[in-house]
Amino acid sequence: MPDKRLVQGDVRAVGRGGDAVVETAKGVVLVPGALPGERVELALGSSRRGAARGRLTRVLRAATERREPSCVDASRCGGCPLMIATPDLQRRIKEGFVRDACRGLPGADRSEIEWVTSPAELGYRRRARLAWHRGTIGYRQLHSKRVTDIRECVVLMKPLRAGWDEAREQLASSLRGTGEIQLQLTGADRVVVDLHANEDQPPELFESCEALSTRPVVAGVTLRVGTSGHPATWGETRVVIPGGGDGTLDGPGGAFSQANDEVNAKLVSTVVELSEPAGLRVLELHCGIGNFTVGLAASAKTLVAVEQDPRAVEACQRNLKGRGLHARVVVGDANQPPKGQYDVVVLDPPRQGSKTLFESNLLPGPKRLIYVSCDTATLGRDLRLATAKGYRIDRIVGFDMFPQTAHLESLVRLVRA
Ligand SMILES: C[S@@+](CC[C@H](N)C(=O)[O-])C[C@H]1O[C@@H](n2cnc3c(N)ncnc32)[C@H](O)[C@@H]1O
Repeated sequence: MPDKRLVQGDVRAVGRGGDAVVETAKGVVLVPGALPGERVELALGSSRRGAARGRLTRVLRAATERREPSCVDASRCGGCPLMIATPDLQRRIKEGFVRDACRGLPGADRSEIEWVTSPAELGYRRRARLAWHRGTIGYRQLHSKRVTDIRECVVLMKPLRAGWDEAREQLASSLRGTGEIQLQLTGADRVVVDLHANEDQPPELFESCEALSTRPVVAGVTLRVGTSGHPATWGETRVVIPGGGDGTLDGPGGAFSQANDEVNAKLVSTVVELSEPAGLRVLELHCGIGNFTVGLAASAKTLVAVEQDPRAVEACQRNLKGRGLHARVVVGDANQPPKGQYDVVVLDPPRQGSKTLFESNLLPGPKRLIYVSCDTATLGRDLRLATAKGYRIDRIVGFDMFPQTAHLESLVRLVRA
């Protein structure tokens, strides 16, 4: 008897989350693991957040740009949904996300999407966010809270993979409940391990953290339990990363840093070039530890930089001082920027974007806005708000910061229409 849950369909596109959008006789179904132009068979699953979901059972007609993934866990993990596509197809899919975000907005049709590729397709990531559930340390499975251990994550830089192995070996048996682990490369070859536990942990874990901090590939370990203020630390937990142009930046373990050094170098130079800060009053929102700040400060007339993480603000001030540069760096909410007159505003918000800021009248009408985004959905929403206030798009650049995944960084420059 034919399985009633099995249906066939044509893949129309890949959505922002990395799932294929498949047109079937039963309607549109989201399915991981398929590519545009393919005809597939799928098993219908339950709906989530209003969208029908399915599981790929067979590729009936494969895209010519389909390829074998370089990771044995690709279909189980879900972190790299585009690993089954050639780099060229990955690029076209991601360019499509950016184009959709800008579609129909003033200036968009006259702005080509410029594209920055990653020199490394694999082994490029200098930080990884893992989770643990009881004794398993790994990535969260696609569309699930379940944690899955991955023996060899091929997009990570080698020391990070070694750091993961060490963390598994030293910590797995003493971790309780659930939590997150961030692995961050410091310098060229050592790792800072940052643990954030949701529940109280047994005394053995503290001993295991100490043991982990003495491993050659591990520089230091921090452990924070619940929302308690100060983490326990072992070893050197400060990270030193390439950034801010040619030099290095230092920051506290766990503070934000861009994932891909070579693409970040291009992102920084593009932000500074398109801001044209020379002799102007610049406001930078979400400055982190100063990745863009040091380049902007080098020629701006004045620079005010805002960041909510006080430890990152201290690091940003240090990174400026070390270069003999000056800016006013303040701890604050980027949605309530310091009052003042600014010629240029640079913003680089987290995934949630900057809706509150664009809906308010707090942006005091700069002539240029440089919007760096890691989420094309919120980028599109915010660009609509900005263009409704009299801006037009004049440059769009996509940065393939995360090859094999459905993520990218985009930069849109807006000028007064
Ligand atoms: C995507 S990161 C960018 C950091 C920096 N531009 C860089 O390239 O490294 C976003 C930063 O915004 C900060 N942040 C998040 N929400 C914020 C808010 N409401 N106000 C100020 N900073 C915020 C985060 O702490 C983080 O450092």
